[in-house]
Formats: sequence, structure tokens, C-alpha cells
Amino acid sequence: MANLCVNIDHIATLRQARGGHEPDTIAAAILVELAGASGITAHLREDRRHIQDRDIELLRQVVHTKLNLEMAATDEMTAIACKVKPEECTLVPEKRQELTTEGGLDVAGNVDRLRAVCQKLHAANIVVSLFIDPELRQVEAARTVGADVVELHTGRYALASGDLAREKEYAHLLTGAEAALSQGLRVNAGHGLNYRNVKPVADLPGVEDLNIGHSIIARSVFVGLDMAIREMLSLVE
Ligand code: PXP
Repeated sequence: MANLCVNIDHIATLRQARGGHEPDTIAAAILVELAGASGITAHLREDRRHIQDRDIELLRQVVHTKLNLEMAATDEMTAIACKVKPEECTLVPEKRQELTTEGGLDVAGNVDRLRAVCQKLHAANIVVSLFIDPELRQVEAARTVGADVVELHTGRYALASGDLAREKEYAHLLTGAEAALSQGLRVNAGHGLNYRNVKPVADLPGVEDLNIGHSIIARSVFVGLDMAIREMLSLVE
């Protein structure tokens, strides 16, 4: 059975729109846990467009399930992670102009850098996940650099239009999950997952955490955060 980890970035997006305190990310994290989710995910972006350093520090104090810090593999972020000590860090590529994380991390093209960051995070007892496209060379590179987990980028699957295109993208996810498991890596998945497309991803072999943000926070505007999470949990489980 897959676990649901809720990405609360967009609670912070709404707060930053007015620059005040509402809605409060910490209250959101507590409600997410009370609704039964298995973890809280938050992306501290280099441009601090939504989650702020203070959010991460406070989340570390209140999250009792699992805190997954999404971050770029930079010296600044590595230092913050080693200080805050989330249970897990997910390394993602980051471009300033993008609306959200676009492609997966090019692990094969950045082996030395990513190996060094993995070592530093491991020294702080942090599990390291790499957000990758479901490609064999990236899975192999993830093992080479010493990652514990790969998070398979489900964006192309989520955006595929029509059954045929979706099945093709799903086949890539399946191959990616099987390859990762055979290399001794654990498997998470996320990006673009919603109430209509999540089930097949939750059924991927060995998949552990599904990191889902936008669709849950968007639905919570209408039905409330508790209900939005419970509805997603019933699909994931
Ligand atoms: N996983 C990763 C690595 C991400 O960067 C994001 C977006 O921040 C998500 C999961 C969640 O994506 P979504 O908001 O589309 O559910």
C-alpha cells in the first residue's frame, strides 16, 4: 500500500500572495497529519517564492510523521538540510522561471555533485531521494551516486492526453519502478497526480510515498483540507 505525503507549498503560495500570516503552513501540516496522511512535503526554493526558511524550521518541530524537504542540490540548501534534519530530502532540479518543477534531475550528467550532496545528507542521517524521469540511465546513475530512493516524475503521465499516450507514459513508470527496485532503490512518485489519475500510480510495484500537492490544496478550497486528504487517502489506499 502506498503512503500519501502532502505537499503544502501552495498553502504558502496563498499566504505569500498577501505577505501576511494566513493561511498558516503549520496549522495545515497539523491538519494533514490529523486527516491521516503519512508525511509532509515542502519545497524550499532558492527564490523563496512560497515556503520560507521559518516554515521549514517550525515544520521540523511540529511534524510527527515524516518531513520531506524538497530542494535543489546546492551548498546553501544542503547546509539548511543538515541543520534542520528532515527525515528525507528530495533533490530536484530548479529553474527560476518555471511555474513548478518541470523535468527530472539529470543525475547521469551531475554524478560528482550529487554524490557529494548525498554523502553530506547521509552524514546528517537524512534519507536521500532523487526526483528523476523514469529513464534507465537516470535510475542507474541514482544508484551510482548513492541515493536511497528515486521519486519517479509522474508529470508526463499526468499530462498525457488520451488512453494510448497515458498507457505509454505509464509503461515508462512501470519500467522505471522495476529497474529501481532491481537496483536496490526504494520508489516514490509524484507530480501532477490528482483524484482521477492517482490509482494506477499507487499500484506501481514497490511504490512507497506519493507526494501530492496542487490537486489536494485546490480541492481543499471547496471541501476543506480534511475532506480533500481523506478523499485522496481512500484512492491511494
Ligand atoms: N514531487 C516533486 C519532486 C515536486 O517538485 C512536486 C511539486 O512541488 C510534487 C511532487 C507535487 O506535485 P503536484 O503539486 O503537482 O502534486
